[in-house]
Amino acid sequence: MCGIVGYIGDKDACEVLVEGLKRLEYRGYDSAGVALLMDSRIKVLKTPGKVSKLEKMLGDSHSAKIGIGHTRWATHGEPNTVNAHPHTDCTGNIAIIHNGIIENYSALKTKLLSLGHTFKSQTDTEVLAHLIEEFYSRTKNLEMAVRLALKDVDGTFGLVVMSSNEPDILVAARRGSPLVIGLGESENLIASDASALIRHTRNVIYMHDNEIAVITRDNVSLKNLDDEAVERDAEHLTFDIEQIEKGGFAHFMLKEINEQPETVLNAFRGRLMDDEGISNMGGLRDVEDKVTNARRFVILACGTSWHAALVGKYILEQYAKIPVEVDYASEFRYRNPVLMDGDIVWAISQSGETLDTLAALREARVKGVPVYGIVNVVGSTIARETDAGVYIHAGPEIGVASTKAFTSQLAVLNLINLLVARKRKTMTAEQGREIVAEMHRLPEKIQQILDNTVQIEAIAEEFKESRNFLYLGRGVNFPVALEGALKLKEISYIHAEGYPAAEMKHGPIALIDENMPAVFIALRDSTYDKILSNIQEVRARKGNVIVIANEADGRLRDLAEHIIEIPETLEILSPILSVIPLQLLSYYMAVKRGCNVDQPRNLAKSVTVE
Ligand code: AGP
Repeated sequence: MCGIVGYIGDKDACEVLVEGLKRLEYRGYDSAGVALLMDSRIKVLKTPGKVSKLEKMLGDSHSAKIGIGHTRWATHGEPNTVNAHPHTDCTGNIAIIHNGIIENYSALKTKLLSLGHTFKSQTDTEVLAHLIEEFYSRTKNLEMAVRLALKDVDGTFGLVVMSSNEPDILVAARRGSPLVIGLGESENLIASDASALIRHTRNVIYMHDNEIAVITRDNVSLKNLDDEAVERDAEHLTFDIEQIEKGGFAHFMLKEINEQPETVLNAFRGRLMDDEGISNMGGLRDVEDKVTNARRFVILACGTSWHAALVGKYILEQYAKIPVEVDYASEFRYRNPVLMDGDIVWAISQSGETLDTLAALREARVKGVPVYGIVNVVGSTIARETDAGVYIHAGPEIGVASTKAFTSQLAVLNLINLLVARKRKTMTAEQGREIVAEMHRLPEKIQQILDNTVQIEAIAEEFKESRNFLYLGRGVNFPVALEGALKLKEISYIHAEGYPAAEMKHGPIALIDENMPAVFIALRDSTYDKILSNIQEVRARKGNVIVIANEADGRLRDLAEHIIEIPETLEILSPILSVIPLQLLSYYMAVKRGCNVDQPRNLAKSVTVE
């Protein structure tokens, strides 16, 4: 997720662009750049780091009436000047900014290289600049060149293109990534969301998928990618900037919980091979044999990422038949761990900057074993210090309590499981195809849960004064119980513990009385019958039971007052669904207790101290 903005009019485009980019920094903040039309030529200025650094670079020596700007959240190519946007074609006459992922960029790049194009960056976006150049050389028409180029593109885009050959227009196009046009007096703007243009106008047109717009200072024309004109009325914006940044949600955490259908889709995007029933991850291509023939996986992580690692252990041992050890990164190096030939160490981290995890992976490197990463922030220290890895593509996670990163980490761990199990022939192609098909269905199932939150909110209302909570699960959903407890602790400050449900009778059941709510994850899977008896044990001691279940049967209805139903899916994928009601429960509890949900006390989003 990046932030893009374009301006054409009489104001100083530099000022408008920089102010707009600052508003969009919550979408991505690892590098920024602008392209300005000055003296009939395109001038590109870009830098790693925040928009304020770009602003300094611009100083007051640049002024223009038309320009485009971008603040980046890297997906392909680490954050540096070369990979920052805008990108240009070979002539430098065409400049482009883009938000989204071009899935077939490497095939397009190979073709363009064979046609003599030269590339400067590792990004997927630069391919678009050269592809448009290719069509422009044939059509001499920028709008047509963009439209024809996009016909060859698989993936998502919100993009704006400008050219010194056609200095009075901006061309914008959208598929999958948001774009809104701001209609002004002798000026028009385009941006990822209205927060970047609301200071100039409240009259906007929202672009829909597969649409292209030609924007001049006095006019906007809209078409679809099949060159048919599109009529759309402008809307008048009433909401304020903060609301826009949170997408209309009250908190970034709730916004990020609701982004999960899209972020899980992004984690799978371009990585599923339906017919072969296997996954394909560019970041592991060079080490696939090593990963497939590994003797053991050792996974290092902290907090929520550690819970994801534990889910990974369950699914990799069950399907890929590879021994997996999961370590608290903070403990790993101080216990002088035994690592041997054939071991592979994985480091899981959303921020990629967690010092405990970084120190642990450095320890593993010293011991001479390969270290691979599963990371969200592109170009982060852990991403740079690992030998290979997979980005989870969850976009910026602003809320301190990790939510969408967790489900995307699980999505990637399932992709790795699919790859290793298929390559080790411990999973058949048929099994692989079944799992891939279900992966495609997950975003919609997540949306079903997000569309039914009334009951979860009511349960939060009933239990908001509780002092303690227990979370209980079995099998692959035991780590989800741990995650549910962590979410509640982090943002509502209620003491909560997660346990394997069968472990209760070995002690924790002593805590049970009418004041101790117990949340069970009781899905219709291989542990269902067992967990029903664990629920009975708690019920027998007057415990308050809340259950996350698939479509409840009579047995469960007799046992639990509060049943939150979620769609069914394959057992190994079920943690991606079962955690969502737990994220929401903790969110509503915290809101009802008046806690600062996005910035809870005593916590930081990225823990860069040991
Ligand atoms: C989770 O909600 C917390 N923010 C925290 O436990 C976090 O998961 C942990 O600090 C690890 O962070 P990382 O994934 O960025 O390495």
